[in-house]
Amino acid sequence: MIQTKTYNKEVLKAIEEGLDRKPKRLPSWLFYDEIGDKIFQAIMRMPTYYLTASEFEIFRTQKDRILNHIIADGSSFKLVELGAGDGTKTEVLLVYFLNKNVPFTYVPVDVSEAVLTQLSTRLKKSLPDLKIHPERKLYSEALEIMKNDTSERKLILFLGANIGNFNSEEAITFIKKLAINMNAPDRLLIGFDLKKDPRLIQAAYDDPEGITREFNLNLLGRINREFGGQFDLELFSHYPFYDPETGVTKSFLVSKQEQDVWIDALEKYVYFEEAEVIHTEVSQKYDLKMINLLAAQTGLEIVDVIYDQKKYFADVVFKLKD
Ligand code: AVI
Repeated sequence: MIQTKTYNKEVLKAIEEGLDRKPKRLPSWLFYDEIGDKIFQAIMRMPTYYLTASEFEIFRTQKDRILNHIIADGSSFKLVELGAGDGTKTEVLLVYFLNKNVPFTYVPVDVSEAVLTQLSTRLKKSLPDLKIHPERKLYSEALEIMKNDTSERKLILFLGANIGNFNSEEAITFIKKLAINMNAPDRLLIGFDLKKDPRLIQAAYDDPEGITREFNLNLLGRINREFGGQFDLELFSHYPFYDPETGVTKSFLVSKQEQDVWIDALEKYVYFEEAEVIHTEVSQKYDLKMINLLAAQTGLEIVDVIYDQKKYFADVVFKLKD
């Protein structure tokens, strides 16, 4: 009997479309399989990847200021985290809120069952008093459901400069979708990586240990593992490039030679010229002017801008425009 392998059709479609495009472009969500998640954890621990430490510093030193935005009359609220990941940063807030006897429920939202289970299991052990209500849904779906429940205010968190992985149009569309599902007392806190000395940004995406290189190349590794690709990872190099004028960091994989690469699931070869690139990621850096513009374009108003000491990063609190 002939064994036919079943492939994830949605992921395969994204790969086929991306590799057929000129120039080639693969979506950055493809980075995050089990191996990619682990490499990203390692990136967040790298000294050159200042983003995580900067946001962590904000949470550690300014948790009171964050709480003041939502506590208002002392009534209970929902702390909704979009794309919760391992929740390390948020845990600082959770511990603080619990210690202050603030009444709240933590609602981590993620499409991955595995991520949510891991997070809830860990938090139930470390913080037994925490009220946690994980939602395995798309962000917009989860918020749509919550919109109708006006009994509690919401503080919605979108951390870690994840907003930077959208281009400007996508960021507007995404935030508009969040804003539609917010009520007047709700607050939205977004973590933005800020424009700074270009060399620091370049180094964050081109670390000397080669961890980010490994992260980028894992995308091809994933195609090999899940879709029977025959990419030789040695024949591609990692090329990140920060443009200080636009604030965009783009990451590419560069074919070191002319080559044809077979992919089982596509039943075809993909052709690469020598030095041809695959664009794999956008990491947009912001300044206050850009953040103000984003608020204006999405029906929001800035309530507070919370910086770390070096002003590398900002957690910005928004509300619906009056
Ligand atoms: C998840 N995201 C905010 C990271 C970033 O900085 O764009 C992903 C990343 N890519 C390379 N290093 C880290």
